[in-house]
Amino acid sequence: MLGRRREKNRSRMGTAKINGITLAYTDQGQGMPVVMLHAFPQDRMMWASQVAALSKTYRVIAPDCRGFGESDAPAGAYTLEQYADDVKGLLDHLLIKPAVFVGLSMGGYTLFVFYRKYASHVKALVLADTRAGADTEEGKAGRLAIAATAQKTGAGRVAEIMLPKLLSSVARETKPELIRSVRARIEQTHPNGIAGAQMAMAARPDSVPLLPQITCPTLILMGELDGPTPPSEGKLMVEAIPGARLTIIPQAGHLSNLEQPEAFNTALLNFLQKLK
Ligand code: MLT
Repeated sequence: MLGRRREKNRSRMGTAKINGITLAYTDQGQGMPVVMLHAFPQDRMMWASQVAALSKTYRVIAPDCRGFGESDAPAGAYTLEQYADDVKGLLDHLLIKPAVFVGLSMGGYTLFVFYRKYASHVKALVLADTRAGADTEEGKAGRLAIAATAQKTGAGRVAEIMLPKLLSSVARETKPELIRSVRARIEQTHPNGIAGAQMAMAARPDSVPLLPQITCPTLILMGELDGPTPPSEGKLMVEAIPGARLTIIPQAGHLSNLEQPEAFNTALLNFLQKLK
């Protein structure tokens, strides 16, 4: 009995050697696997509230993408294909095949690439605060500037630039604890990770043509106050992905899971419960 209870509450922080680097990950709970891919420039700890809520019923796997959190941060440009292959390598390591995938912003960009390569592994998708389109030339130039800033002056300045984009003005005025934790995760990010990820996102392909080919159940979650990926991006995706559903999270900015964790978790759990 005791053994079974221990097994049910299985919680594991692990590391694995994947594609030549060490990847850190959380693997908590039992049941249908749910893989959660974090935003830029955050790490898997941004999912703490979701891991706690979901792992009562599901097996939640949340990696630190290369360059972030406790994963290795090799120098040089990364690619979204590398991120997708790292996720696939981790799932192979954990002997997991079909899973539900949740990606927020950069995590969503990775999921489009993952779906292109490994659709048979995808039971369902949750695309949160992300966009299907590629960057404009201006957007790409902005990314290269942030990459250079990170390498020259470190992650502190990047935190100053990113915080107003990641959190709504309401959260910035009323949630000092949230600002502190988001800022701390940015400041702890290795400059190599910031630069490498910016180059990966700048080079990402246009995924709009992929949308009509997505055949798995798909939920789109968008913060009502999201500036970088406004709800209009969610409307574009929901109209193009067959059978997809869109939920707008009220009073939430770009990191909607952090600003309104209860509403985010409720929408996510409702979706997961309906999957067969
Ligand atoms: C993120 O939250 O992952 C970033 O805002 C993505 C981006 O810079 O496009």
